[in-house]
Amino acid sequence: MAESVVTIDRLGAQGDGVADTSAGPLFVPFALPGERVNVARSKDRGEIVALLESSPQRIEPACRHFGDCGGCAIQHLEDAAYRDWKRGKVVEALRARGIDAPVADLVPCAPGSRRRVTYSARRTQAGILLGYHAAMSDRIVDIAEDPITVPAIVERLDDLRRLAGALATGSEPFRLAVTATQSGLDIQATGLPKLTQPVRLAAADLAARAGFARLSLEGDILVEPRKPRVTFGSVTVEPPPGAFLQATAQAEAAMAGLVLGHLGRVKRVADLFSGCGTFALRLAAAAEVHAAESDAAALAALDRGFRSAGGALRRVTTEKRDLFRRPLAAAELDRFDGVVFDPPRAGAEDQSKQIAKSAVPLVAAVSCNPGTLARDLAILTAGGYRLTQVVPIDQFLWSPHVEAVALLEKPRKRR
Ligand SMILES: C[S@@+](CC[C@H](N)C(=O)[O-])C[C@H]1O[C@@H](n2cnc3c(N)ncnc32)[C@H](O)[C@@H]1O
Repeated sequence: MAESVVTIDRLGAQGDGVADTSAGPLFVPFALPGERVNVARSKDRGEIVALLESSPQRIEPACRHFGDCGGCAIQHLEDAAYRDWKRGKVVEALRARGIDAPVADLVPCAPGSRRRVTYSARRTQAGILLGYHAAMSDRIVDIAEDPITVPAIVERLDDLRRLAGALATGSEPFRLAVTATQSGLDIQATGLPKLTQPVRLAAADLAARAGFARLSLEGDILVEPRKPRVTFGSVTVEPPPGAFLQATAQAEAAMAGLVLGHLGRVKRVADLFSGCGTFALRLAAAAEVHAAESDAAALAALDRGFRSAGGALRRVTTEKRDLFRRPLAAAELDRFDGVVFDPPRAGAEDQSKQIAKSAVPLVAAVSCNPGTLARDLAILTAGGYRLTQVVPIDQFLWSPHVEAVALLEKPRKRR
């Protein structure tokens, strides 16, 4: 590989340093703007061989694995510049769609607050590897610490590694999705070959002895000494294996605060892409809520949570519906005076087109992808909505990902 000295001009979207060279952008992982680095070049990527001049914004990373592990992209940048970069991702995405909206400061999330992580695992001759993939690589970096994640998970890394050992019959990699719930760790293994009954029994026994709340394989519960539980507002919900939960409780509280602040006075709300009821069950303290979602098990958990609340909530109805194929039509939406939608990374293009045509006065858009959020907001603003606030939230600390909540309103038409 050819070596050369470059100066880093800016931070790229993935957290890499970018040198704008005459041959085009050169992406240099772990380099910061203003730094002079000697790099080994391969196409448009440069690997740091020597840091010749270091940025005053460079700090010691929080984790010993940083630089090898691909779980985090940017731990080496001081806090204010880091927050500007994260917020800037939302600002840039909106600007690219021609949207000029007030973007608030980034809402931070503390280290040690991630309650839902997916580790990769693999049996090797040297033992079990459990951790994250190295950047752009199949190699699993075996971790001894994980400073983004809640202690309830990190303190159990050895038990999780033992569990991975019980499940790993071959050398193929697989995943353990681990969620810290109020009743213990909820673990789902995916990507494993079909396991024999003795292997399943041994893994179930190990999980129970370790005190885990539940172990599932590809959605099938293997052992469940306690139902995993989470609370949304005042309502306790028992999420099914693999159901979506916001990655940190802090970010969830910030998102819910914004959504409730915006929709707190409405009487009938549609919660689209509702999951297990993160927003629906909080909103139902004051409004009737219709929750639509494609995951039947998540909706069943939401419904059980609603019923367990007795008379404390207003009416909550659920509808299993593929909102990509069959978004709620404008005429259906018009019976609501508020909508919250929180789609997967692909966003909600067709659903946004229907909301844009509707007369719903208040809309909250929640998204983990600024690019698709900006596209959907452009649809809504073209349909007469005014964007009153966009709030970026650092749900995915030290990664290139950022969550955002956008609040919109449309004046009621005089009849
Ligand atoms: C980002 S999560 C948000 C869930 C929930 N609002 C929360 O905060 O916990 C997106 C949700 O969309 C659901 N989903 C994915 N594809 C869908 C589709 N085509 N139609 C309806 N829901 C879908 C997922 O099951 C997931 O629950």
